[in-house]
Amino acid sequence: MRMRARYELHYNRVTAKQTSLVRVDPERPDPSVVGRAADILRRGGLVAFPTETVYGLGANARDPDAVRKIFAAKERPTSDPLIVHVLDTEAARAVTAEWPETAQRLAAAFWPGPLTLVLPKHGDIPEIVTAGLDTVAVRVPSHPVARAILAAAGVPIAAPSANRFTELSPTRAEHVARALGGRVDLIVDAGPTPVGIESTVVDLRGPLPVVLRPGTISAPALAAVIGPLGAIAGGPSGDDTAPRRSPGMRERHYAPQAQVYLFDASTRDEAARLGRVRDAAGGTVGALLLSDIDSTVRHRIAMPDDPALYARALYAALHTLDERGCDLVLIELTPDTPAWTGIRDRLTRAARGGS
Ligand code: TXA
Ligand code: MG
Repeated sequence: MRMRARYELHYNRVTAKQTSLVRVDPERPDPSVVGRAADILRRGGLVAFPTETVYGLGANARDPDAVRKIFAAKERPTSDPLIVHVLDTEAARAVTAEWPETAQRLAAAFWPGPLTLVLPKHGDIPEIVTAGLDTVAVRVPSHPVARAILAAAGVPIAAPSANRFTELSPTRAEHVARALGGRVDLIVDAGPTPVGIESTVVDLRGPLPVVLRPGTISAPALAAVIGPLGAIAGGPSGDDTAPRRSPGMRERHYAPQAQVYLFDASTRDEAARLGRVRDAAGGTVGALLLSDIDSTVRHRIAMPDDPALYARALYAALHTLDERGCDLVLIELTPDTPAWTGIRDRLTRAARGGS
């Protein structure tokens, strides 16, 4: 016998609204919960749900008023376009105006999965989704809960990560509830997301495909399927003055509350010194470490030395250090090889600017 789904209410004093959060089995979500999520989406509401990468904040991509609510809930500027989630390649073709051979090959190799393709958009997709661009970012997620909701809703779902603008992406429903409780209609909780960092975004418009945002599908893995890749002006995580083709990559992103100091072998002593100084001044120091560091660090988190496991653990570790009130986080840089590129990109962004 199936247990009745239990809805927990999160009340937000500022918005004076409630959000319900409901737990489902990540492999076999309760159809009544999936049905409720689909219903909310079809009626123009907002549902936060797990994908394999991070939790997304979804709305019906064909309903501009619904999509507008995403920007309001996240406090995200409407100049930053959203990713459209669909169930399969056929549905992806329906939101795009062109489907080149490279798209077909990448879709066959990596969908469903953490890959987003940027292509000329179909005229039916509202401007608010693509921030007025003539392209659309589309992806077919593999998470069974995301897929069940897409199938039941029967519409493409526009969904950015379910965090407030510039803050850390959520890999657990608790992260979503904390950031967006009282601002969304439903949070579907299926536990931690397995990939942990956002999808690889590839632009397929130019003569050569370009990685706009590195993720867990590496450049060599892409090149093995479609041949050589082009370079983006300034590099995917390069300086902010270079012209760039992905509006959302300009800002400081994925940032914890604390100031972040990245270190490698050559700056390990300096990191240790900064930790001691901050601790002596009454600050709270945290660290994400691959080895050890001889410093005064109250909250040490040992990170896995495997890139897939590191990606899965990264945001939850940073959320934990935020909750513990760290004001300085020392992060040991990961290796500089293709398998680590997506992770190094997020670490660099977390460190940029301080807060
Ligand atoms: O893994 C993911 O991709 C997650 C899950 C929820 O699917 N979503 C996600 O969405 O990370 P978001 O909105 O946080 O990031 C989308 C990125 C942004 O950097 C945005 O600028 C870029 O994709 N993007 C979206 N549409 C684009 C377009 N038409 N051209 C170029 N870049 C685009
Ligand atoms: Mg995001």
